[in-house]
Amino acid sequence: MNDQTLTPEERVANLKGMGSSRKRVEDVRFTQGKGNYVDDIKMDGMLFGAFVRSPYAHARVVSVNKEAALAIPGVVAVLTAEDLAPLGLHWMPTLAGDKQMVLADGKVLFQGQEVAYVVAENRYIAADAAELVEVDYEELPVLTDPFEALKSDVVLREDLAGQTEGAHGPRKHHNHIFTWEQGDKDATEAVLGEADVVAEEMVYYHRTHPCPLETCGCVASMDKVTGKLTLYGTFQAPHAIRTVVSLISGLAEHNIRVISPDIGGGFGNKVGAYAGYVCSVVASIVTGQPVKWVENRMENLMSTAFARDYWMQGKIAATKDGKITGLWCHTTADHGGFDACADPTKFPAGFMNICTGSYDIPTAYLAVDGVYTNKAPGGVAYRCSFRVTEAAYFIERMIEVLAIKLNMDAAELRRINFIKADQFPYQSALGWEYDSGDYHTAWDKALKAVDYEGLRAEQAQRIEDFKAGKTRKLLGIGLTHFTEIVGAGPVKNCDILGLGMFDSCEIRIHPTGSAIARLGTISQGQGHATTFAQIIASEIGLPADDITLEEGDTDTAPYGLGTYGSRSTPVAGAATAMAARKIRAKAQMIAAYLLEVHDNDVEWDVDRFAVKGAPERFKTMKEIAFAAYNQAIPGLEPGLEAVSYYDPPNMTYPFGAYICVMEIDVDTGEWDVRQFYALDDCGTRINPMIIEGQVHGGVTEALAIAMGQEIAYDEMGNVKTATLMDFFLPTAWETPNYTTDHTVTPSPHHPIGAKGVGESPNVGGVPAFSNAVHDAFRPFGLVQSHMPHDHWRIWKIANGLGMHG
Ligand code: CDP
Repeated sequence: MNDQTLTPEERVANLKGMGSSRKRVEDVRFTQGKGNYVDDIKMDGMLFGAFVRSPYAHARVVSVNKEAALAIPGVVAVLTAEDLAPLGLHWMPTLAGDKQMVLADGKVLFQGQEVAYVVAENRYIAADAAELVEVDYEELPVLTDPFEALKSDVVLREDLAGQTEGAHGPRKHHNHIFTWEQGDKDATEAVLGEADVVAEEMVYYHRTHPCPLETCGCVASMDKVTGKLTLYGTFQAPHAIRTVVSLISGLAEHNIRVISPDIGGGFGNKVGAYAGYVCSVVASIVTGQPVKWVENRMENLMSTAFARDYWMQGKIAATKDGKITGLWCHTTADHGGFDACADPTKFPAGFMNICTGSYDIPTAYLAVDGVYTNKAPGGVAYRCSFRVTEAAYFIERMIEVLAIKLNMDAAELRRINFIKADQFPYQSALGWEYDSGDYHTAWDKALKAVDYEGLRAEQAQRIEDFKAGKTRKLLGIGLTHFTEIVGAGPVKNCDILGLGMFDSCEIRIHPTGSAIARLGTISQGQGHATTFAQIIASEIGLPADDITLEEGDTDTAPYGLGTYGSRSTPVAGAATAMAARKIRAKAQMIAAYLLEVHDNDVEWDVDRFAVKGAPERFKTMKEIAFAAYNQAIPGLEPGLEAVSYYDPPNMTYPFGAYICVMEIDVDTGEWDVRQFYALDDCGTRINPMIIEGQVHGGVTEALAIAMGQEIAYDEMGNVKTATLMDFFLPTAWETPNYTTDHTVTPSPHHPIGAKGVGESPNVGGVPAFSNAVHDAFRPFGLVQSHMPHDHWRIWKIANGLGMHG
């Protein structure tokens, strides 16, 4: 069994551990139709639920008549708020400390709001019956503009009438939710007052939607004999859902089993709790039969959690030679009808206070006002960490606006303001401690890779040619240097509904030297089964191929806060390494016993413990695993397993330099991404191939958001983009090629030095695309234009600049 024939390099390669581009183990199932999604679940006697939804954005619900619907054969029940009220379930708490109607209680506040829930033998009968539920509405004035809402006499949330205190402090108006302030207001205003140069701009990050390919859904199954509720669902945080279901239903938590099966993309959309979950649970408890609810695409886009919708008024102060001295930001945040933002409790505007970005800005102030309007609730981190995307877009636009004001090259302006490598750990003016970074190295590498000087020369020639009438195409160079903030915890700062944001991993080694690891996170496509096994492989020397990963079942996995905000690697990844190290510590004692030496006389060597100074005397991890189950080792319990609950000491701060080169036709507004270069630094890289895949996917979503995707409302509150005909979801046709690159600056506090990466490409991608559009028109006088930059809006920019004659 002792294998002395392989070189250490061969033994490392056999493990397929950290740093190897191990192929995704998940894909065997996914590419052969063996995925198991919520809608694949079929159970005996399973019923189906469908919602009756409001066609109006703001209306009083005068009456609901169920008779015609109930008369259809196969309809089992029609639930309204009146039916849920005796159970106290007609409203539910939101993640943001507000409450939200489960079914319309007297009025509706957004188009698509749930009014009644029809339960029938199958989805076709449920859909037909939902059409027959007669709802009598009395229309009310609609507010879709947050600035108007703050001035209007119309009271949206009548349930809060007279309440001057909200979950996050005083409310200034009946449609106001909270004000959140960070930084030093007086000092920042003083800096702005004295500065050589102040650039000011309104930066709007429009409302959009995560739009996962699989919509939200669940199957609730109440076993009336055992009293156990099993809830399958598209949950990004299964344990938190279990606790919430227990708290709002009164069922004991041990009698609830939440299972997230395969999930077809989440991007933040599947973090919160939806009316469909509550109604399905109630329907299953009442009928004693399993009840399935699965949204269609329009329901998903109209009613589940949106993203962004931040109006960010900015002022940035600098010296004449471009050294930034202060940053001021006031954000008006449109939260829709209920404040259902998914943010840690103490951060009502998420991590928007990372808006000083990659720059050493000594003085800053941020204020955010949350506002109710007649739009869908939500405010989720769509492939980002709690508003860091808004923050990065804001600062990267403000840098460009300042560069225009200073008549400076925007790459150089960034370079002279970057936080320097020797300033880390860096304390930002808005309260964060950046763990590590080397921005200058990344920036220089990126500029060199795209031949920045050459591009600027080409652009100058293009401008000449355009002015001379030789071309109608402009060239834009979109620059971005972003700093992410991922890995919430620490528990002392971050909780959701009082649950501290740690995460967990449990590892069990089997006697024959294979293992199972269970985590509190849940993959939605990120490839956790592949990469977390790689961490364990490197830590304990068993091949990744011999390690099974399991997530998403609250009856088996240790408690965790789930997967969103790129927190899996920084938090659960750290828990995985720590659990593995506990196993290795016990393995060391077993090895020493077997080798008949003292514990301190053995040392770790890839996949074994060897006697110090005598490497030919060793025990492999496989041998040690067997011994743990068949030898009575004095002072040690049998078995080899460990669990770790990891509370990170700090967030991790990945960063990146992205450059987009775009051709723009001023007559049609069409754009063409000629080149997109993405350099990411996520610290230690576990699986380079998976990282590349994450970057490709994230930049593609960034392309969508910047260049066309939006949830748009008309003045009556109708959603104008509720199908994929109108909501831009890029296909291979629109998706350009990307060049990926990296630097490696490990996190000093993470056990393996890794930072998150899944969201970086979205955070960095959006400003890179948007800055490319702005940069193309900069020589002709454009300063700021709102996203999304679809063909029509780009045409309008050109038209507004007099380019159409
Ligand atoms: O929380 P989420 O899984 O969405 O994001 P993440 O922690 O950034 O991880 C996304 C995927 O990239 C996972 O499979 C990670 O293990 C992998 N990754 C990596 O290989 N190396 C890193 N330094 C960070 C993430």
